[in-house]
Amino acid sequence: MKRLKDTRETVLKASSAYYAHRAYYEDLLVQRQRRFAEANKRELNFLEHAFSAHATRPIKKVLDVACGSGRHVFGLAKLGYDCTGLDYTPERIQIATDRAKREGVSVKLLQGDATQLSYENEFDAVLAL
Ligand SMILES: C[S@@+](CC[C@H](N)C(=O)[O-])C[C@H]1O[C@@H](n2cnc3c(N)ncnc32)[C@H](O)[C@@H]1O
Repeated sequence: MKRLKDTRETVLKASSAYYAHRAYYEDLLVQRQRRFAEANKRELNFLEHAFSAHATRPIKKVLDVACGSGRHVFGLAKLGYDCTGLDYTPERIQIATDRAKREGVSVKLLQGDATQLSYENEFDAVLAL
C-alpha cells in the first residue's frame, strides 16, 4: 500500500511539473490563436447543450476539476454561471487568478487534488475535461 502511495505521489509530482512548464505557452495560445478560441467556443456550446439536455436540476453552480488555466470556467462565468475551478498545479491556478483579475471575471480558483475532494452537494454540475 505504501509503495502504491509513493508511486501515486511521484506521478502526480511529475504531471504537475509537466503542466507547470506548459502553462504559460498554452495560456497564450488559447487566448490569442483563433483556432484555439474556436475550439473553446465549441466546447462551451457542448457544455451548455449537455447542461440543458441531461441535467436533472437547473445548473447554476459549476465545479471544474483539473481546470488548468481556467478556459472553461472563464467561458462559463462570462455566460452567467457561478464557477469554481480546482487544479493541482499551482502555476496553472496562478495564471487563472491573474487572468481573472485582468479580465474582471468572478471565479473561485483553488489549488487542490482531485482525489481528495470533500464536497458533498455544493455544485449542480462537475466538469473534468
Ligand atoms: C490536459 S490539462 C486539462 C486542463 C483543462 N481542463 C482544459 O481542458 O484546458 C490536465 C490538468 O489536470 C491537472 N491535474 C492532474 N492531476 C490532478 C489532480 N490529481 N488533481 C487536480 N488537478 C490535476 C493538471 O495540473 C492539468 O492542469
